[in-house]
Amino acid sequence: MTWLITGGAGYIGAHVVRVMAGAGERVVALDDLSAGHAARLPEDVPLVRGSSLDGELLKRVLAEHEVTGVVHLAARKQVAESVAQPTRYYQENVGGLATLLDAVAEAGIRRLLFSSSAAVYGNPDVDLITEDTPCAPVNPYGETKLAGEWLVRAAGQAHGIATTCLRYFNVAGAAAPELADTGVFNIVPMVFDRLTRGEAPRIFGDDHPTPDGTCVRDYIHVADLADAHLAAARRLADPDVTGDLTLNIGRGEGVSVREMITVIGEVTGERRTPLVEGRRPGDAPRAVASAERAAAELGWRARRGVPEMVSSAWRGWQLHHGS
Ligand SMILES: NC(=O)c1ccc[n+]([C@@H]2O[C@H](COP(=O)([O-])OP(=O)(O)OC[C@H]3O[C@@H](n4cnc5c(N)ncnc54)[C@H](O)[C@@H]3O)[C@@H](O)[C@H]2O)c1
Repeated sequence: MTWLITGGAGYIGAHVVRVMAGAGERVVALDDLSAGHAARLPEDVPLVRGSSLDGELLKRVLAEHEVTGVVHLAARKQVAESVAQPTRYYQENVGGLATLLDAVAEAGIRRLLFSSSAAVYGNPDVDLITEDTPCAPVNPYGETKLAGEWLVRAAGQAHGIATTCLRYFNVAGAAAPELADTGVFNIVPMVFDRLTRGEAPRIFGDDHPTPDGTCVRDYIHVADLADAHLAAARRLADPDVTGDLTLNIGRGEGVSVREMITVIGEVTGERRTPLVEGRRPGDAPRAVASAERAAAELGWRARRGVPEMVSSAWRGWQLHHGS
């Protein structure tokens, strides 16, 4: 098979490219480099610079590289930006997907993997979120991921494409420093940012209904996430596999913000007492995946823990931010 990996120069996409190419799959990356870096890609993986909104380009790339499966990661992913620019998020995340699905159907491609997110669930009041927990996204970003899942399923049914939607929980870490996330949108880089400025990390609310009062999340090492993509791609490559599948990709273990800040203090040697501020509107007290369906369907489980996520992310931070 040859896999087209859209968003392949991004943080997660570059890890997926590396794991799939390293496992002997033929891969080609497509990225408009709006948030990605070409240097993240191995030299022997072709990078097509262009957008998933460009249908003619997509058709050409699928034909020229004789693509037989697609992993679609290209998207905009910032919640606050999606609240400020909802039409842009629908156009790029849903419109880009529709354009891609048309090209995929026209090329007769029968396998597609879609990057979804735990954001599709919103804030469910459950101990473990299963794939059957009702979806109720609370921002336009999450809405575009849920609409994307619907579109993937509908197009899969219409055109006989076997599809898989992976709902990632909180992604952290790096398989190598040069692959690290360079954005400062998630807790780990946000705390690094505060610490390297000599400021105390911030906690938004310590009066949530959780054991230590701070929000609990399910963190997953990006290298484990990339392994899950390989397992899902290999499952899809089986000609007997049809229909759609939706899987949570998490560890199934909750870690509180306070616990995460403690690990970051241990790894960086910067132990500062966090500043407790008010709760942020819309923050769920707890969001932890049930990881059982992914284990059953893919034979995959996350192997790396939070200290490994933080120490690998820290090496990446030092490389990119020069401290
Ligand atoms: N990082 C997370 O915690 C997380 C969690 C859940 C889901 N996701 C999803 O995973 C995917 C990858 O996220 P990431 O963290 O690697 O983000 P990222 O911004 O690092 O990667 C996205 C990549 O897609 C490219 N891109 C964006 N729009 C494009 C377009 N229209 N055409 C071509 N390329 C385009 C960007 O240049 C970038 O390289 C996204 O779909 C995101 O919504 C991420």
